[in-house]
Amino acid sequence: MIQESDIVHILSDHSGQFVSGESLANLLGCSRAAVWKKIRHLREKGYPIEAVTNKGYRYMDTHEAIEYRVNTILSGQGDAFFKVKYFDRVDSTNAVCRELGREGAQEGLVVGALVQQQGRGRRGNDWLSDHADGLWFSILVRPETNAENLGLLSLVMSLSVHDAFDAVGYTGSAIKWPNDIVSLQTGRKICGILSEASFEDQRLSFAVIGCGINVSQKAFPDSIESKATSLFLEGVTHVTKELLLIDILAAFKKRYDEFLRAPSEMLCDYRSLCVTLGREVRVEGALPIIGKAYDIDTLGRLIVRDANSQVHVLSAGDVSVRGIMGYTDVR
Ligand code: BTN
Repeated sequence: MIQESDIVHILSDHSGQFVSGESLANLLGCSRAAVWKKIRHLREKGYPIEAVTNKGYRYMDTHEAIEYRVNTILSGQGDAFFKVKYFDRVDSTNAVCRELGREGAQEGLVVGALVQQQGRGRRGNDWLSDHADGLWFSILVRPETNAENLGLLSLVMSLSVHDAFDAVGYTGSAIKWPNDIVSLQTGRKICGILSEASFEDQRLSFAVIGCGINVSQKAFPDSIESKATSLFLEGVTHVTKELLLIDILAAFKKRYDEFLRAPSEMLCDYRSLCVTLGREVRVEGALPIIGKAYDIDTLGRLIVRDANSQVHVLSAGDVSVRGIMGYTDVR
């Protein structure tokens, strides 16, 4: 008995290309008529499969398709935590996720979009995402935790992205404090994370953790060309946004559960992946500080010692840290 999800997998693996009815029938060990019957049913459900005589079937990479596939695969894996909503275009997935959070959406909501018209970066910067070459998404969580542990949530996401990169075979990335994922080879940024929290009567109501990953860009505008890179440019050409999202969500669930049990337990992994440690850094602020980054404390803050041996404890939201030896910061 052939499964509709098998057809979906095969077609999405060939996303954008036609696969003939005969090839599908051979791969699935059934007749072409049986393939057509299943495809008709998928199309009736709104599944975006194009059928062209003498060419075969083609999967269109629309937001509905991504949403359907990710939710189907997650529930097939027995995952009941995440519920993905994928939009064609939004201003910012963080903004939509916040809005849904305010309306009472459950934790585990994931809001993704093909295009963001006003993607937001840290410290009030823009995040270039007005095209579909990246994975732009936000996760809603409602942890019962102290407000002071909130900074660690972004670290949960950066570790999860790093885990997922490993899972798809890309082992050349590292974390730049607080939560940029950069290429070890070039120091350029592949992924940025923006977390926002909402409080009610001094208590955390929910947090939104937004993540932007450059997936298939082949070039960047001049303004960020020297600082940004994509998985494609780093040689990772086989990965699709949805498979990456599934791997990130799987890793996130594990890391988030660990965070709930013991918030600072992840720091051992984090320290070993954080390339900022041990380096000279320049901290931008009212009074710039130059010093050596030598530790991450239990709240995820960076500890820097300057030339006068004065110790500075830096929170992610407060400052921008630039490495001195050709190490980059992208916004
Ligand atoms: C940074 O400045 O490094 C953080 C960038 C975060 C970008 C992501 S893309 C998805 C989510 N929605 C947004 O508007 N921003 C985050």
